[in-house]
Amino acid sequence: MPSSRVLPPGLNRRYPVVVRADGVWIEDSSGRRYLDAMSGGSMAATLGHSRPDLVEAARRQAERLAYVHNERLTNPAQERLARELVGVAPEGFTRVRFVTGGAEANELALRLARSYHVERGEQQRWQVISPAQAYHGPTLETLALTGRPGLQRPFDPYLPRHLHIPPCTRQLDPTGEAALTALDDALAEAGPENVAAFFCEPISAAALPAYTPPERFWEGLAERRERHGFLVCFDEIVTGMGRTGSWFAACETPLVPDIIATAKGLGAGYTAIGATLCRQHVYDAVAQGSRRLTLGHTWDGAPLSCAVGLAVVHALRSEDLVTRARERGTALRAELEAALSGIEIVGEVRGHGFLLGVEYVDPRDGESFLPPDLGVAGRIDDVALESGLVVLSTQPTRDGYAGDQSLFAPPLTSTDDELAEMVRCFAAAVRRVALEAERELAALGAPMQAGEPR
Ligand SMILES: Cc1ncc(COP(=O)(O)O)c(C=O)c1O
Repeated sequence: MPSSRVLPPGLNRRYPVVVRADGVWIEDSSGRRYLDAMSGGSMAATLGHSRPDLVEAARRQAERLAYVHNERLTNPAQERLARELVGVAPEGFTRVRFVTGGAEANELALRLARSYHVERGEQQRWQVISPAQAYHGPTLETLALTGRPGLQRPFDPYLPRHLHIPPCTRQLDPTGEAALTALDDALAEAGPENVAAFFCEPISAAALPAYTPPERFWEGLAERRERHGFLVCFDEIVTGMGRTGSWFAACETPLVPDIIATAKGLGAGYTAIGATLCRQHVYDAVAQGSRRLTLGHTWDGAPLSCAVGLAVVHALRSEDLVTRARERGTALRAELEAALSGIEIVGEVRGHGFLLGVEYVDPRDGESFLPPDLGVAGRIDDVALESGLVVLSTQPTRDGYAGDQSLFAPPLTSTDDELAEMVRCFAAAVRRVALEAERELAALGAPMQAGEPR
């Protein structure tokens, strides 16, 4: 093959050239096969690869009407998909706008939150508060929603100044009380009358795999929303469309958000589509105000993408995959936990449906983060890939909120045998890297404390 003209994310990395895939198997140009425990690598391919029903839905729609722009024209696929989403969203969600991906859906959620306040005469509300240890996308506004300097550099001069609170994790704040105090401080710093929204992942994806705040945090957030009048936006880019065992994670949280952004599982890796959903009162602010919510992207609500989205919803329903994610996910987590037991760097295995997370710790005290320079998370991904398994781990960014962690998020359609093989390969990769890391740790100084920037 001629030398690549692609500008890849990592210039020192060798990228297998994937030429075909089927179900949970991916094949590269040399004929090597990989088990896909990450739904296409990004948690998007929730229904597995090469499904004839989704390909056929795209073909049929493309033959009839592939594209019209959303601003002056609508189309039946968009209208039907909006109705379907409203039907499976938490009660009270009545309107949907389609976009082409996760960051766009989050940006639209913010534009909608800001519009809500402006339409109601509260021009001054713009500031957003969000948990620092999060990922909401690579656009400049969504990057500003995380509080991780390690991710934001060198783009920080372009980022709006939003406020952040530490996550209420097992190590930093298991009850959620410290996060609520930090939220109060952030509200006081911004002036509560200037705050437009609290923005968070209800169940985290890569930033804190499968982690969700404790109930007390949600209750405290709900009280403050009531008191101060900001909106709550959920980033359900990963968790929406069944991944965590309900149609939306918001169906299970003690607090119903005002706006939800979703993306990956909506196109299931067959098309680029995202959606932002809002409750009636958010819609009413616009409907009773300027009646305009302008700005959009070229491919928003395109018939081709929406037809695929409709086929995805049909497959999730007809194969009862949301229930399967919930019920099989519980067993999968137990299987993963059993396979990883006895590996001293494994601190916690978490999970909701088919979104599972493994957190690694320094085995010398069983609780501190591993030194980031060991690169344990990245090594696990590399060893797994070498042995034919795709997983995705989070590299710590020296911000002090989280250490090395792995995500394990197979397609909801994976069979029991396929899941067993994924768990076996993953545990073997973790075990091998753990052995190497333990040897290297013996030569280093004291463990790092959680919350201590590195
Ligand atoms: C939780 C979360 N939000 C937002 C995004 C950004 O989505 P996209 O890459 O489609 O823009 C991602 C992508 O991984 C994500 O995991």
